[in-house]
Amino acid sequence: MVFMKKSLVIIKPDGIGKKIVGEIISRFENENLYISKLKMIHIDRELACMHYCDHKGKPYFERLINYITADSSVVMVLEGEDAVNKVRSIMGNTDPAKAISGTIRSDFGTDITINVVHGSDSTESAEREIKLFFKNYYQ
Ligand code: CMP
Repeated sequence: MVFMKKSLVIIKPDGIGKKIVGEIISRFENENLYISKLKMIHIDRELACMHYCDHKGKPYFERLINYITADSSVVMVLEGEDAVNKVRSIMGNTDPAKAISGTIRSDFGTDITINVVHGSDSTESAEREIKLFFKNYYQ
């Protein structure tokens, strides 16, 4: 039996600005992940700080929050077998300069902050993040 798993994915403001939302979604769908929730929102500072709470105190935290709150993002829940790891491998390394060619961040990322996409780093993080962005959605 295949267990469906979830990952919270954000297409960050540079993904919208670079006009690659469709391209990014296709890359996930082509790897057998499907969209169970999707919305376009302007993430506010409070939500950004809750989402990135594990990074509080890091030298890059302010730049990260300023960036993610600067413009609209597309936020979605992707589901499929081994969704967290599959999403991470399609996205590539956090730092586009270190990401393998053919991954989203290698192909489209600008730098480690302006890196096009976010994906949950574990099943536990996915549950926490999905509850933040899609209240009452978890099973
Ligand atoms: P993301 O996948 O959205 O999750 C946390 C974000 O913090 C990450 O992408 C990067 O944009 C950012 N980040 C993580 N590590 C660093 C770092 N060393 N320097 C700058 N930004 C970082």
